[in-house]
Amino acid sequence: MNLNNWLEERFGLAQAVQEIKEHPVPKHARHPMYCFGGLTFFCFIIQVITGIILALYYRPTPDEAYASIVFIRDQVAFGAMIRTLHHWTANLMVVMVIVHMLRVFYTGSFKKPRELNWVVGVILLLLTMGFGFTGYLLPWDQVAYWGSMVGTEIMGSVPVIGKYLMIMLRGGLKVSEFTLTRFYVAHVMILPILAMMLMGAHFIMVRIQGISDEL
Ligand code: HEM
Repeated sequence: MNLNNWLEERFGLAQAVQEIKEHPVPKHARHPMYCFGGLTFFCFIIQVITGIILALYYRPTPDEAYASIVFIRDQVAFGAMIRTLHHWTANLMVVMVIVHMLRVFYTGSFKKPRELNWVVGVILLLLTMGFGFTGYLLPWDQVAYWGSMVGTEIMGSVPVIGKYLMIMLRGGLKVSEFTLTRFYVAHVMILPILAMMLMGAHFIMVRIQGISDEL
């Protein structure tokens, strides 16, 4: 008995895989403007892979963070390349998600029955920005430190809850080692878990509702 049959007997996945393979892509969805959601997801996958490799060497403490980044850049095999990929794909992902959102807006695909998927999309956009914001501090150099100081200060100007929001993000009144820990946990745990759950919901809704056809 080969491994395939053995697994098939236990999980019976062949039919599900066959259905996915045979699911027709509607003709209108072959228009290039429909590829940006998928490209955003592709960027996310690159971020997950390069991020895991970076996390093997990165150390999230004020004493070690910058040194570990220099180590990745200068000593780790392909370290500079992985770091550059992570940096540029983060930028690219923001561009892709915005173009995707503009396509959805232009084709009116946010209308009934896809309103909820639009709302999930808006949260995904905020999470994408959140990845950039929290990742920015991690090298713990001058630009990162002062950039995060200004960023969290801006949060502090939100009416009523601003001050609490700022203290919660910073883990105190100032940007400190607690801020670094919080941003790291948000960057590698909270945001990825939320993003994966919401992307799952986003894709299931696309599958259930079908792709809109306005182009
Ligand atoms: C991480 C971010 C996101 C990913 C990975 C993603 C991925 C996708 C994918 C793969 C599709 C299938 C159609 C296509 O590719 O155009 C889709 C559809 C859709 N997305 Fe997103 N998306 C994201 C963010 C957003 C944002 C920011 C919005 C709007 C605020 C949004 C709203 C929608 C809607 C309404 C649909 C259904 C469109 C239709 O039926 O034509 N998405 N998304």
